[in-house]
Amino acid sequence: MVSSSVSVSTIIIVIFLPLIYTTGLKSVYEVQIQKEFLASNIYLTFAHRLSSHGVYHGFAKFFFESAEEERDHGKELLDFYNVRNREVLLYDINIDDNIAKMEDLVEMIRAADQLEKQVYDNLIQVRLQANTEKDYPTVHFIETVMLEEQTTALKYMSDLVKRIERNSDNVAILLQMMDQDLRKKQVKKP
Ligand SMILES: [Fe+2]
Repeated sequence: MVSSSVSVSTIIIVIFLPLIYTTGLKSVYEVQIQKEFLASNIYLTFAHRLSSHGVYHGFAKFFFESAEEERDHGKELLDFYNVRNREVLLYDINIDDNIAKMEDLVEMIRAADQLEKQVYDNLIQVRLQANTEKDYPTVHFIETVMLEEQTTALKYMSDLVKRIERNSDNVAILLQMMDQDLRKKQVKKP
């Protein structure tokens, strides 16, 4: 009786183990897609607000372009699964009320910095889980395409925060100067 129940358990584990592992990677991969589209919507919210205020047109442009880039990242993740005949579930994108109603540019930049950190952290989880499951094409894709872009985006946002913190006495002037720069130049694509 004991030996038969052990062998049944063994069969169940052998059959369902790949499924259990697949669910693990699939789950963090779906979270990654959700975070990319969430970031896109949040940046679009910021861009719209700044644009309607009519003061920081450079930052409005920056956030509009960042929104497009985040959407492209989400699409890249979807495309990677599409060509491998894998499917994911797309979940609700909910923006917190305080972010949706944010008015202050410095708060927006800080929120964007935190968001980029969260996106980066989950990307690391996808990389780790893919490695655990020996899904090396996904490991390669995350390392060479997604992580490279995300590291650059994170560095850019954290540099903005550092510049603001180091010029806390002249934030208004600094923001005007940064805005002028952003108006002139094409924002580098992370
Ligand atoms: Fe991204």
